[in-house]
Amino acid sequence: MAKIIALANQKGGVGKTTSTINIAACLAIAEKKTLLIDLDPQGNASVGLGIDKELHEDRNIYHVIIGQSELKDAIYDTELPFLKICPADGNLIGAEIELVSEMAREQKLKNAFATVADDYDYILIDCPPSLGLLTLNALNAANKYIVPLQTEYYAMEGFAQLQNTIRLVRSSLNPQLEMEGVLLTMFDARTSLHKQVSEEMRNAFGDKVFKTVIPRNVKLSESPSFGKPIILYDIESKGSEAYLNVAKEIIMKDRVQAPSEIKEYGFEEIPEIPEELLVAAKEKQETNQTQTLN
Ligand SMILES: Nc1ncnc2c1ncn2[C@@H]1O[C@H](COP(=O)(O)OP(=O)(O)OP(=O)(O)O)[C@@H](O)[C@H]1O
Ligand SMILES: [Mg+2]
Repeated sequence: MAKIIALANQKGGVGKTTSTINIAACLAIAEKKTLLIDLDPQGNASVGLGIDKELHEDRNIYHVIIGQSELKDAIYDTELPFLKICPADGNLIGAEIELVSEMAREQKLKNAFATVADDYDYILIDCPPSLGLLTLNALNAANKYIVPLQTEYYAMEGFAQLQNTIRLVRSSLNPQLEMEGVLLTMFDARTSLHKQVSEEMRNAFGDKVFKTVIPRNVKLSESPSFGKPIILYDIESKGSEAYLNVAKEIIMKDRVQAPSEIKEYGFEEIPEIPEELLVAAKEKQETNQTQTLN
């Protein structure tokens, strides 16, 4: 059964999509079978993974949500063998309206997962910047959520609002929903405000805040326009290093939660991302660069 993680924050531009794409890619490179659900009508995650939205306009997450397609028929390959995607396009805006009169309209995504959840280790959902019906579907279908948080003054206010929504979801729809972590994004260690927000979050949420912070890194903002996750665009960038570490933290948390596996491996021997996969990714990236140059 897949671990289903929604990346949610109603605030726009905080790094939800960047984090969803890159965490998913890093899990995939660690040979975890991963499915990315693009649940945002902007379709940024689809484009960022090199998906031509027009090719899939007849079958994508919109058709799944409104019940016109099975999820398994709307899943496509990416450049990484362990990473699949269910893309989105602008039609998804219509789904919120079309579902208004439907029964159990917040259950659509959850129901869709029933037939595919056993095929994956991880399902990551990129939510839109709102707390509407789409995000509600994601939080209802997920067992965990990650909050990407831009380290800035107003971040905490929005965070409190999100926590209220989570409380409502937990009490009325999905009592199992738990926080996987708060992920500090676009971090600049030289800015005192950033350090302050980071300290406040760690005081309030302790080890629920990912140890890894995502630095502001220009490569991370460039890679989507090449349709590539950062590890296939620049494996040696700070952005790659950070997202590989986030994926590692997630994988390790899951190992810690499975006592039988701890006995088997011993804590220090927890498998990390295999070196040969990183080398393979680097080679692939070099080939891509040569192709781009030609
Ligand atoms: N760590 C980073 N360093 C530099 N640029 C970043 C970083 N993370 C994200 N960005 C850039 O910031 C912008 C917003 O990021 P992103 O699209 O991931 O946010 P979002 O929360 O998904 O936005 P939306 O709410 O619109 O869906 C994008 O242009 C992205 O390339
Ligand atoms: Mg986004």
